[in-house]
Amino acid sequence: MILLAQVSDTHFDQNPHNADRVATVLDYLDRLPHRPDAILITGDLTDSGTAAQYEQARKVLRTDIPLYVLPGNHDDRANLRRILLDVPAATGPINRAVDVGPVTVALLDSTIPGAGGGALGAATYDWLDRLLARTPADRSVLVAMHHPPVPMYSTVVDPIRLADPQRLERTIAADDRILGVLTGHMHAMGTTLFGGRPLVVAPSVASAIGGAWEVRTPGEVPIDYAPDPSVVLHAVEGRRLTSILRTVPMGGRVSVLPG
Ligand SMILES: [Fe+2]
Repeated sequence: MILLAQVSDTHFDQNPHNADRVATVLDYLDRLPHRPDAILITGDLTDSGTAAQYEQARKVLRTDIPLYVLPGNHDDRANLRRILLDVPAATGPINRAVDVGPVTVALLDSTIPGAGGGALGAATYDWLDRLLARTPADRSVLVAMHHPPVPMYSTVVDPIRLADPQRLERTIAADDRILGVLTGHMHAMGTTLFGGRPLVVAPSVASAIGGAWEVRTPGEVPIDYAPDPSVVLHAVEGRRLTSILRTVPMGGRVSVLPG
């Protein structure tokens, strides 16, 4: 069994609130009796993409568990590359594949520089096609990106979800090796099907954004910085993806039911 921890939307902003929450989540994962094989952060590492915010992220994201990141709409490709990936500060899409045991994780860059909404460009689709063409038949594949490709009943992120996802949907539907799609962006947990496979949207570590049914007046953003952060643990066994949401208490653990 492969265990992949998905952490999302950390929004490092140089303040301690978000950084403390990420540190607590990483500490929780580090201390698990069965530690994850890898940690994946599905975008919005920083709040506005500045070098100082990536420097804070670099300091906090310290773990000996392999940790992989992909960009979200609040990120900056050049700073992310230079400060977190230690590669030259290019501005093209950051598409990478990582192998976690028998699972290949395709980390796709769904961002459009300067825009909140997402899309996969022709170069990214071609990159994914080439990756799938060279991936052996006996491997499993997870597709990860920041923007959900379908509406998730969020007045905040539905208007800025992944545009024109039909090509991705066809690719997924046609390839039995692809077990599911993992995204962030929504600042809430949600699941549905996409291309006939599970789509799992992970919550944000930084904040929670309520669904459409929590909006009192049009345009209101039902954001809440108080709820404890959560992480999604994805277990892959054979061709089955099982995703478990765990909330990580900021105030400690109560292991005996209070009377
Ligand atoms: Fe976000």
